[in-house]
Amino acid sequence: MDTLPPDEIMAAQCRRPHGELASTISASMSKGNAALILQTYQLPELAPDAQVLELGMGNGQHFPVLFERIPHGHLSGFDYSPEMVAEARTVNAQWLAQERLSLHEGRLGNLPLADQSMDAIFSINTLYFWDEPQACLADIYRILRPGGTLNLGIRTRTSMAKISFTRLGFQCYERDEAIALVESQQHFQLIRLDYSPDSHGQFAAMDALSLCFRRLP
Ligand SMILES: C[S@@+](CC[C@H](N)C(=O)[O-])C[C@H]1O[C@@H](n2cnc3c(N)ncnc32)[C@H](O)[C@@H]1O
Repeated sequence: MDTLPPDEIMAAQCRRPHGELASTISASMSKGNAALILQTYQLPELAPDAQVLELGMGNGQHFPVLFERIPHGHLSGFDYSPEMVAEARTVNAQWLAQERLSLHEGRLGNLPLADQSMDAIFSINTLYFWDEPQACLADIYRILRPGGTLNLGIRTRTSMAKISFTRLGFQCYERDEAIALVESQQHFQLIRLDYSPDSHGQFAAMDALSLCFRRLP
């Protein structure tokens, strides 16, 4: 995007891409967040037949990297933006046809997935929008099998402060705050952390923090 829309519009679009701007925003996000997404995709150990879920995948443009890691596995993607689900379906038509991917509208905290059905859950650049983080973490805990991993990718609050519209409704965290939030109910334990101070961001030079938590029994 050459000229950004006003801050109120940018904040609302990043939270939930919608309407005519949705595809421009999602293209910009998948390009600008590529380094953070790819860093986070490399975090956990994944069995070749792993059942994997991504929450808030946007257009899912980087899914091929995950499929390389789970050649016999299955990936599910949920996003509460119908525009993003439709775009992800178009971008990933090949994987849908092979029945290695399913894509659905759904809101984190209330996902129609069976208990302990996933080996790994990814969610990148969504933590800022979790209105009820403990309810979201409870849902993730329910869906993950014991020993499975929750893999979060975020920019720290210090980095996000470089972008003016993140003051409008984003809940940002420093590294230790994000870890404390996820570990607070003692259902998850941090097992790996990757950090790049100078990952390319969407609108400015940003950091990239990838956190891998194990789901405790
Ligand atoms: C900032 S975008 C990030 C997209 C992509 N993961 C990335 O890093 O470029 C946030 C995405 O998560 C979705 N999202 C945010 N909160 C959500 C929630 N509670 N449940 C489902 N989807 C959510 C939005 O619709 C949007 O597609």
